[in-house]
Amino acid sequence: MAKPAMRVAVTGAAGQIGYSLLFRIANGDMLGKDQPVILQLLDITPALPAVKGVVMELEDCAFPLLQDVVITDDPKVAFKDVDVALLVGARPRSKGMERKDLLEANGAIFTVQGAALNEVASRNVKVLVVGNPANTNAYIAMKSAPNLPKENFTAMLRLDHNRALSQIAAKTGKPVASIENLFVWGNHSPTMYADYRFATIDGQNVKALINDEVWNSDVFLPTVGKRGAAIIEARGLSSAASAANAAIDHVRDWVLGTNGKIVTMGVPSDGSYGIPQDVMFGFPVKCENGKYTIVQGYEIDAFSQERINITLKELEDEKAGVAHLLG
Ligand code: NAD
Ligand code: LMR
Repeated sequence: MAKPAMRVAVTGAAGQIGYSLLFRIANGDMLGKDQPVILQLLDITPALPAVKGVVMELEDCAFPLLQDVVITDDPKVAFKDVDVALLVGARPRSKGMERKDLLEANGAIFTVQGAALNEVASRNVKVLVVGNPANTNAYIAMKSAPNLPKENFTAMLRLDHNRALSQIAAKTGKPVASIENLFVWGNHSPTMYADYRFATIDGQNVKALINDEVWNSDVFLPTVGKRGAAIIEARGLSSAASAANAAIDHVRDWVLGTNGKIVTMGVPSDGSYGIPQDVMFGFPVKCENGKYTIVQGYEIDAFSQERINITLKELEDEKAGVAHLLG
């Protein structure tokens, strides 16, 4: 017997990430090839004709798993009973901006959307915030939804995680799929700290294989941290297909599990690794039965502590910058 459909809200459905994301969700890449879906698409009123065009294309794909599509400019309609909410809709940065420069423009969107989720979404809704600055927007949404469990709110660090994997694969000449135990701490910003000290390839320690601390601090970390800016410089637009792919990876792993593997998610801190409660921070996690667990026990050396302190300080500054939105 067919499974009951899951309701998936996607905001910013007319945008460039939306265009890369919706077809893959409808194709079963996110929730499984046996999982019917109903898409509930939100955008601002002037963008609704464009959303309708995207929906015409979805119809023309005749996806067997796509049961229905809702188009709306009202968050309470978009989030009604949703099991998964992908909060993508927000302004992207352009050349010369940092992601935190978007706080003023985008922060307010997430108070409204957090409150709407609080009112109408499934109590088990899994929320992924993609719109930048993603960690702080996720924090705003979580704080605006006091009746939903905090653990339901997450921010996207998976693009940084995937970027780190592919840089390590290129450096070592080994396949991406052979790399385990790599993860990223902190904010989705150039301050993030991609940590390969515990990573292994076919059982060998990656740090020992690379054996080059200068490459780590002078090449690897800046390359991963500034990759978003490099793409904006090259494309004239911010990353879209890779961002959509990372969103699919994040939600798929959260819903379907990681089979014991470690991935990176931005989640509200429970105090782990000395990160203050509720700070939306990139951590190593494992997922099982629809829940993530922060993996404990990694030793934090002096270099790592310094990097973690920098990214934490940035998040605390961003949090102070949005305090007025949260009353
Ligand atoms: P885009 O400009 O192509 O699309 C954004 C869409 O959001 C537009 O259709 C716009 O009308 C809509 N929108 C604006 N305000 C809205 C609101 N209040 N409610 C619903 N929809 C609204 O941008 P994009 O390239 O799709 O990027 C979207 C966001 O994702 C940006 O903030 C970008 O910086 C961010 N992003 C994050 C990551 C990450 O790793 N976390 C990666 C890439 C991009
Ligand atoms: C990215 O990392 O590609 C996105 O966050 C877009 C950006 O502004 O860098």
